[in-house]
Amino acid sequence: MKITMIGTGYVGLVSGACFADFGHDVVCVDKVAEKIQAIESGRMPIFEPGLDQLVANNASAGRLTFTTDLAAGVKGADAIFIAVGTPSRRGDGHADLSYVYAAAREIAESLDGPTVIVTKSTVPVGTGDEVERIVKEVRPDLDIQVVSNPEFLREGAAIGDFKRPDRVVVGTTGNERAIAVMAQVYRPLNLNQAPVMFTGRRTAELIKYAANAFLATKITFINEMADLCEAVGAEVQEVSRGIGLDNRIGSKFLHAGPGYGGSCFPKDTLALVKTGQDYDTPIRIVETVVQVNDLRKRAMGRKIVKALNGDARGKKVALLGLTFKPNTDDMRDAPSLAIVQALEDAGAKIAAYDPEGMEVAAPMMPSVAMMGDAYEAAAGADALVLVTEWDIFRALDLKRLAGSMNTPLLIDLRNIYPRTEAEEAGFSLIRVGGQG
Ligand code: UGA
Repeated sequence: MKITMIGTGYVGLVSGACFADFGHDVVCVDKVAEKIQAIESGRMPIFEPGLDQLVANNASAGRLTFTTDLAAGVKGADAIFIAVGTPSRRGDGHADLSYVYAAAREIAESLDGPTVIVTKSTVPVGTGDEVERIVKEVRPDLDIQVVSNPEFLREGAAIGDFKRPDRVVVGTTGNERAIAVMAQVYRPLNLNQAPVMFTGRRTAELIKYAANAFLATKITFINEMADLCEAVGAEVQEVSRGIGLDNRIGSKFLHAGPGYGGSCFPKDTLALVKTGQDYDTPIRIVETVVQVNDLRKRAMGRKIVKALNGDARGKKVALLGLTFKPNTDDMRDAPSLAIVQALEDAGAKIAAYDPEGMEVAAPMMPSVAMMGDAYEAAAGADALVLVTEWDIFRALDLKRLAGSMNTPLLIDLRNIYPRTEAEEAGFSLIRVGGQG
């Protein structure tokens, strides 16, 4: 199969490299020449474990090539994936589809034969219809099928998620050629026994939003339970385990924390809310999830101030982890941003360490001192706050940390440190949804 991937962002680059690894012939197209040059010389635009190696292997095998020339890249392709960005539109929260539509138009203009155009970007219900309208208007002479194939990759685990997905969702209008091409594209996954689910195009588009909104709801539910646990004297981790063992609920995405962030949940929940409102079927649960999560991030800053006896003025707070989750350098909608803001408003001085995120974070929080490691960040601090649960923070020498601080106060916003261990090291420990 010859596959063309338009956009070398997170989804495009990971999907392109994985398709090539399955043996397909893949061309990745991006408008930004520097980005293409960087990838070709082995520098990935994002931090994703294993991606550089995967790209290098498949590029040197000749299965994965890169170009800025869209017209050349799409010629002869069996399937052309649109994986460009769909940021939240400023002002109204709707997904901005201008990049998707521009890509569709440009693809259609450049085609020299029939093909299947696949939207992989997360797009609101009905986008496939509009893409189809555009390509038919531009090329009434060609049989171009438009398919929806949302992705369910998690940052930091993207390659594994692509190769061993729980499911693949393909939405078509029922056209046999489109179905056959998509079955062929995902044939290598049959070996991993992943179900490929064929459905209607609008349904596929909605599945993506429903999945992310449900996961965001699960997280927000347990976060509110965490608050209740603190109030009534219960332990949220045990509540999570106690409900998660029920197969109907499931144990995943029940870790209480500082609120969800990243490039997907905040944007997609908001877009689903807007779609619901547009169609006069408001999704009130998700509306509430969005509000609760926004408030929670800043509330974490207040939780830290409260732990400092309500007065953070002139005190030093050390943050461990800044990215929205581990194994990424992504700072989009990271809880750390709201936490830093709240702490600064309360007059605290902040030092931080993050294994991969400091370069991206520094310009977003200019007054925060970026340190060389966790120990440097903690030295002389009045509170140490675990914000993002990078593995490297699990095996820290807690005694050494506590000994170097002005006040040995540990605020664990991800509940990774066992209470006895932290207290034996000399810390007083505050967790999320637990006592103390
Ligand atoms: C999410 C989904 O998990 C993917 O399936 C989806 O494809 C992707 O969005 C997308 O739409 O592209 P991602 O944003 O990379 O993936 O990260 P997650 O691992 O889902 O974490 C999202 C946020 O939820 C993080 O801030 C994380 O800390 C938080 N979280 C997650 C919790 O607070 N508690 C949990 O139990 C799980």
